[in-house]
Amino acid sequence: MEDPGHVPDPQAVLEHLLRRHSIGPRQLAAPGPTPAELRLAARAAMRAPDHKRLSPVRLIEIPDARRAELAALFEDFAQRSGRSEPEAQEESARAWNGPALVALAARLDAVAGVPAHEQWIAVGGALANFMNALHLMGYGAKMLSGRKAADPRITAALCEPGETLVGWIAIGTPTAAARARGEDDPERILRSWTRS
Ligand SMILES: Cc1cc2nc3c(=O)[nH]c(=O)nc-3n(C[C@H](O)[C@H](O)[C@H](O)COP(=O)(O)O)c2cc1C
Repeated sequence: MEDPGHVPDPQAVLEHLLRRHSIGPRQLAAPGPTPAELRLAARAAMRAPDHKRLSPVRLIEIPDARRAELAALFEDFAQRSGRSEPEAQEESARAWNGPALVALAARLDAVAGVPAHEQWIAVGGALANFMNALHLMGYGAKMLSGRKAADPRITAALCEPGETLVGWIAIGTPTAAARARGEDDPERILRSWTRS
């Protein structure tokens, strides 16, 4: 039987994970992940804790051939929101963010008896696993949303009925070194129960 605790070099994997940070689209260049690598990251996403295994997360890869369509949707959103023409162009350009672009959506189950917050946690866990897997494969990524993620027209174009669009994950090869960031202090989130 496979030893569930066995990792070839846990310290090395953890050291690498502890260096994960988001990398914005301006610092992402080709190549992006191959289809096989993207599938591997999606498998990691599916390993996140998920009450009743409802699989509330959806990852929607935007094919390059459809980036122009997405750009038109972004531009249309900006125009409907009363933005200026340069602002609409800036919004439209975000459809070309990253050599790979994956939309993240949630599909919450109202009848499964799992509270919504638990399903959202499963979505967040899936996102974290997805991004960690990409990081371990050497890719940089950043999750971005903005008001357009809540736009019904954009949601209808990307999602199946009943899904909530969360945003987009831009993915690629980092072109800049990580910005120096101090070590995280675990005491900020981890404590003993001392309240009486
Ligand atoms: C669901 C979600 C949506 C986000 N949307 C945005 C966004 O629209 N713009 C932005 O600058 N950061 C956004 N962020 C934050 C970045 O993705 C990133 O986590 C943050 O800059 C912190 O960087 P770090 O991951 O290196 O700690 C979002 C994060 C999440 C989880």
